Amino acid sequence: MGTLKETQLNHRPIPTERLPDLLRRMPKAELHIHIEGSLEPEMIFTMAQRNAVPLSYASVDVLRQAYVFNNLQEFLDVYHAGTTVLKTEQDFYDMASAYLARARADNVLHAEIFFDTQTHTAHGSSAEMVINGLHRACADAPAKYGMTASLILCFLRHLSEEEAFECLEQALPLRDKLVGIGLASSEVGHPPEKFAKVFARARELGFRLVAHAGEEAPPAYIWSALDVLKVERIDHGVQAIHDAALMQRLTQSRVPLTVCPLSNLKLRVFPDLAQHSLGRMLDAGIVATVNSDDPAYFGGYLNENFIQTFAALGLTSAHAYQLALNSFNASFLDATQRAQYVRRVDEVFETFE
Ligand code: ADE
Ligand code: ZN
Repeated sequence: MGTLKETQLNHRPIPTERLPDLLRRMPKAELHIHIEGSLEPEMIFTMAQRNAVPLSYASVDVLRQAYVFNNLQEFLDVYHAGTTVLKTEQDFYDMASAYLARARADNVLHAEIFFDTQTHTAHGSSAEMVINGLHRACADAPAKYGMTASLILCFLRHLSEEEAFECLEQALPLRDKLVGIGLASSEVGHPPEKFAKVFARARELGFRLVAHAGEEAPPAYIWSALDVLKVERIDHGVQAIHDAALMQRLTQSRVPLTVCPLSNLKLRVFPDLAQHSLGRMLDAGIVATVNSDDPAYFGGYLNENFIQTFAALGLTSAHAYQLALNSFNASFLDATQRAQYVRRVDEVFETFE
């Protein structure tokens, strides 16, 4: 994998009007998707009814109209209300299956799925039930959808490190069903170093490590996710654009960023997509990827993120090729499986007319 400037183009340049079709057909991995953020309003109402959970929204339309946010916290409050309808293992299976089917329609061939156990244990569900339901959907994905999927458990950073340790403890009997540990929820005021000990423990246990950093909070949060938590990927990381030394560090270390453009737009991290930092990061040689974050809330699944961002930033087929390669190379798949997916990317670019 090279930087954008070094990438060997294996295809003729593709005209701008053909880019949306290329972006749809391009095989891709999604590495930043909160499964609870894929719960569509219709599914929230169906599950509320089957589980007799009262909702404070009168209808699907009223709920959808509430999806206007000024910042991350306003979103998290609405997202949390949606999670209260999840009660059974089948609910978790159905939620994950619906996402996987939708992602596969966007030519996502591999997904690494975030979930927050602590949200559900606070509602009386067991960590075991949550993980079993989600894992069963991932295990069924190759036969059902022709794709692979794995799970990353995110600690909630607005809670204490002690609570994160409890969460880790509850997940340990199901260790084999998880690929990694992440860090999500309200960022500002909850820096990575708050979780130094529990991430060190997760690392000893062999988990792959990621953390949200530099979504709303300053570049210092990205530095400490790298240096204190020793994560292998940064989720979001878009605030790095304000720190030249950090940009250089990300380029040289090749630590990937899982960028979520429509999320950043909806949560007002950037005033419009034309000002998004994705293009500048790719051109600096940073291993950036495109992801949907919470697609039911932010107005689009993965292809919509690609298509709108490419149009707003004037990105090209060379950027598309780089992003497709980055998505698989930044994944936690083994080298053999990564190489197989990269070959499928090459096939599509080589034969695209
Ligand atoms: N949990 C779900 N979506 C999130 C986001 N965009 N940032 C932090 N935590 C989240
Ligand atoms: Zn996220």
